[in-house]
Amino acid sequence: MKPVIAPSLLSANFSNFSFAVDSIKRAHAEWAHFDVMDGSFVPNITFGHKVVSDLRSESDLVFDVHLMVEKPERIAPHFIDAGADNITFHAEAAVHAHHLLSVIRCSGRKAGLSIVPTTSVATIEEALPFADIILVMTVDPGFSGQTMIPECLEKVKKLVKIREERGLSFQISIDGGVHAANARICLDAGADILVTGSAFFDAEDKSALVNQLKGRI
Ligand code: DX5
Ligand code: ZN
Repeated sequence: MKPVIAPSLLSANFSNFSFAVDSIKRAHAEWAHFDVMDGSFVPNITFGHKVVSDLRSESDLVFDVHLMVEKPERIAPHFIDAGADNITFHAEAAVHAHHLLSVIRCSGRKAGLSIVPTTSVATIEEALPFADIILVMTVDPGFSGQTMIPECLEKVKKLVKIREERGLSFQISIDGGVHAANARICLDAGADILVTGSAFFDAEDKSALVNQLKGRI
């Protein structure tokens, strides 16, 4: 049911990802978001595909992988093999975005393209028909717990308009600084998916937070 809530493991306790994935399930959020960082595209390092493959056998949640890496074409196939359902990479890091989107789609997974706060929608207009998800970063990628840059929501509105005008069907994801108090403006802008890191893992009542993010309470 719209919006999809995608808690990010970046804000979980890295010593116990099994527990973190289980907490996402118990809170009735639909997707588990995996932030993969290489210490080059962003100044932080997280984990590789083995984390995804080891958790795959434990969970039927949708595994939503967000690659914040240089040369994503080198590691995307490993995440396909690991059982990721969605694989999103950065337009800023991929010269041949069409090719990589096609590789991911041909594997039967959803192919996503992401843009950082200062990358315009115009930059990816030609790629839109080949993508299943457009992930609009609302903070500079690299770390959880940052404050949302609200200007980025204008890009969500633009994407909604283009999608309608061109009869496209990609989903729009927002990632960075999403919490209960700003979920409404994200939904009003047209977001289909809300990624949430610190707000989710800091919440004592995670089910209540999911309901708040969905605009139910
Ligand atoms: C940031 C990551 C986000 C992050 C969101 O680079 O892509 O997914 O985990 O965390 P919050 O919701 O705390 O901003
Ligand atoms: Zn992310």
